[in-house]
Amino acid sequence: MINDLWYKNAVIYCLSVATFMDANGDGVGDFQGLMRRLDYLQGIGVTAIWLMPFQPSPFKDDGYDIADYYGVDPRYGTLGDFVEFTQGCKQRGLRVLIDLVVNHTSNEHAWFQDARKEPVSKYRNWYVWSKKKPKNASSGVVFPGVQKSTWTYDDAAREYYFHRFYDFQPDLNTANPEVQAEILKIMGFWLQLGVSGFRMDAVPFVIAEKGAHLKKPAEQYDMLRTFSQFLTWRQGEAIILAEANVLPDTDMEYFGKDGERLQMMFNFEVNQNLFYALASSDTRPLVKAVKATSKRPASAQWGSFLRNHDELDLGRLEDEQRETVFAAFAPESNMQLYGRGIRRRLAPMLQGDRRRLELAYSLMLTLPGTPVIRYGDEIAMGENLRLSERNSARTPMQWSTEPQGGFTKNDKPVLPVISEGAYGFQHVNVAQQRRDPNSLLNWMERMIRMRKEVPEIGWGDFKFLNARSTSVVAMRYDWRKNAVLCVHNTSSEPIEIRMAVDGPDESGCSLVNLLSDDHSHPEQDGRHRVLLEPYGYRWYRVCGLDYLLKRTEV
Ligand code: GLC
Repeated sequence: MINDLWYKNAVIYCLSVATFMDANGDGVGDFQGLMRRLDYLQGIGVTAIWLMPFQPSPFKDDGYDIADYYGVDPRYGTLGDFVEFTQGCKQRGLRVLIDLVVNHTSNEHAWFQDARKEPVSKYRNWYVWSKKKPKNASSGVVFPGVQKSTWTYDDAAREYYFHRFYDFQPDLNTANPEVQAEILKIMGFWLQLGVSGFRMDAVPFVIAEKGAHLKKPAEQYDMLRTFSQFLTWRQGEAIILAEANVLPDTDMEYFGKDGERLQMMFNFEVNQNLFYALASSDTRPLVKAVKATSKRPASAQWGSFLRNHDELDLGRLEDEQRETVFAAFAPESNMQLYGRGIRRRLAPMLQGDRRRLELAYSLMLTLPGTPVIRYGDEIAMGENLRLSERNSARTPMQWSTEPQGGFTKNDKPVLPVISEGAYGFQHVNVAQQRRDPNSLLNWMERMIRMRKEVPEIGWGDFKFLNARSTSVVAMRYDWRKNAVLCVHNTSSEPIEIRMAVDGPDESGCSLVNLLSDDHSHPEQDGRHRVLLEPYGYRWYRVCGLDYLLKRTEV
């Protein structure tokens, strides 16, 4: 049983401690720095923070190669600092989710070192071995072009070990009950230190059978129930938000028929089709994706997002659709990655066009789910394509016009701060945007506030209204006798739409604009006529017909 469904109407902000704020001047962000920025985060209105991995790590995959699950990397601070941080969040009503990376460890983890050196080690069976190189060793790599194999020979072990990701990330044998017990222990540990749950990394791989001779590894879905049950036994409000880029017809396996498995999953299906809609102005595949992922238990929730810390994975689109998105948003091969994705930030993909940025964010915020915002996107940060692979979109937060964008006093930051061109910190930073009432930052703050005030989106049922245009999405949410209507024009052309909207009673309805004064009354035929400017959007509350009239009388 879940005692508190806080995540149904939350706004999550994801950040990496390493690149957010450096307090001690060593060039690497830290918990002390992050703590200084908690009022900023509370100010923009987010209700939860998702921290990328911060545990001790050789840092070969941005910390997704963990060498000790029970600690804080000394570059970021101490466990004491972590608890100060969760306490600081608690004081401000912010919840904390942390990454749970248990598909694999770093090869420097003591478990792996012991396992490879000692055939009788208790840890030997915590990993996945094969005496011979399996025939399918070159299939199933996650990072094509960079990673060649999923099996690598280890000299000390004299066997091959399995690694779904890079060769320095040996897979844990997650079917082993001892490994499962350890995963629960890890979760229990961080729960005690104040977190409200986990963003679970690479879930389809965690639950897949692993071994040398498997033709088609089956998913062990029930493992998810074990994790989730443990969480809620320990702490009723705790959740798992899964990274699971899977086909819609398996969604229910992940959520569980009665919501007994995962509370949340990122909606990758909708994400990819959302970018297709932004690139092509054809919203039909997006509508289809939203409908295809509509089935979920009442307690479950989608995580909606635009960009994250990885490449924008377009692997589920049809080839032609993917080419359309590449042509619009990543025309140069250096902008693309792994043959399936884009390694850019949102703002440069949309050519810094404020109308398109607002449209993209407004649409994402109003899709069924809980929005997850990537740090820096609230000020329209850019990317650095000179950095390797996904690092292009992981540069430090730009706080001010001070050297290194105010991120650090050190002249050698962990990753270079963007300091050239239109997206350099001199032009794109928090300090300037705070002072400017028309900045994207202040726009985002208003939108987040309004998003929280329309719980219909997080909780309600939705349906699409027929706006008679393939470039327009019109969605209505109903919850507890309240309704909102969100309309988005993905096209660069203005469009007039006419819509029939049901009111609370038979006399029709008025639409109260939640973001401006431009409300709507039905015309004689009972329909609403809305003129949407290029990339225009509207959020309306559906009210009784006499609502606006009454207001003007007052
Ligand atoms: C997930 C993370 C990614 C990481 C990979 C391996 O996909 O999002 O950044 O490289 O897992 O842990």
